[in-house]
Amino acid sequence: MKVREINIEDYKIKEKPYYLPIRDEVTVFRAAYESGIPVLLKGPTGTGKTRFVEYMAYILSTGIDAEKQKTEGRGVSLVTIACHEDLTSTDLVGKYLLKGDETVWVDGPLTKAVKTGAICYLDEIVEARKDTTVIIHPLSDHRRILPIDKKGTLIEAHPRFFLVISYNPGYQSLIKDLKQSTKQRFVALDFNYPSREQEARIIQHESRTSQEIAYDLAKLGEKIRHLKGHALGEGASTRLLIYAGRLIQKGIPPRRACDVAITSLLTDEKEVQRAVNEVVAAVFP
Ligand SMILES: Nc1ncnc2c1ncn2[C@@H]1O[C@H](COP(=O)(O)OP(=O)(O)O)[C@@H](O)[C@H]1O
Ligand SMILES: [Mg+2]
Repeated sequence: MKVREINIEDYKIKEKPYYLPIRDEVTVFRAAYESGIPVLLKGPTGTGKTRFVEYMAYILSTGIDAEKQKTEGRGVSLVTIACHEDLTSTDLVGKYLLKGDETVWVDGPLTKAVKTGAICYLDEIVEARKDTTVIIHPLSDHRRILPIDKKGTLIEAHPRFFLVISYNPGYQSLIKDLKQSTKQRFVALDFNYPSREQEARIIQHESRTSQEIAYDLAKLGEKIRHLKGHALGEGASTRLLIYAGRLIQKGIPPRRACDVAITSLLTDEKEVQRAVNEVVAAVFP
């Protein structure tokens, strides 16, 4: 079996991601980063959390000298881990692997980030099993250590190691699962739907539609979100509006594009789909 070691330099963001700040999240994140306070990103899916972290990793350079930035590129490395129910602490921390007739230890992505001072982004952390949330406790509080049980060692985090976690409060309450001592070490940034003007700009940029279509889609998003709670579990995210925009840009008629990119995905119930379609028809007559 081939043992592939993680090269942390590969985790640098190569090109500046497009990100439109919605509030003061850039300033708050930077201040938290410089103070070593981990960040919790809260918000529904498709509201720009992942894009935001990528953008921050690209623009941050605290503590990295200018010469190094010239040779190694700018920004800090970002290790993103999409959490899912089968993700174990071993996947994060590392494991012993057989290499020839030797056993070698291979660091997992979290360990690598802890050692090298990267940003580690645990996306949708509530999806992960309990034992994964347990390992972040000593990392996020004042101890800043990562216990590696299998090796019986403790790793002290690199001074620039930074932990970011995200979750969608619509599904579960992470706050409940985190120990009081841990949760009080985080700064929480709320991601919500942007204003119509902001969202129109994002849609236009990301789907290359006309300004007019982008604005109509943003208006549609806002209207659909008003249906939320009555009939819909979750509103149309910016991501879905972007997808609709891309299809329109490819020549799919707007109503059809909204149907396949938005309506069918938000609900399976015919009755609710009809309600969404009425909103679509009002925006795209
Ligand atoms: N503020 C924003 N600036 C730029 N793009 C955004 C913004 N918010 C959302 N997007 C767009 O929406 C898409 C979905 O956002 P993403 O970061 O994947 O959401 P999340 O991680 O919250 O589920 C992104 O790929 C991007 O195109
Ligand atoms: Mg995401």
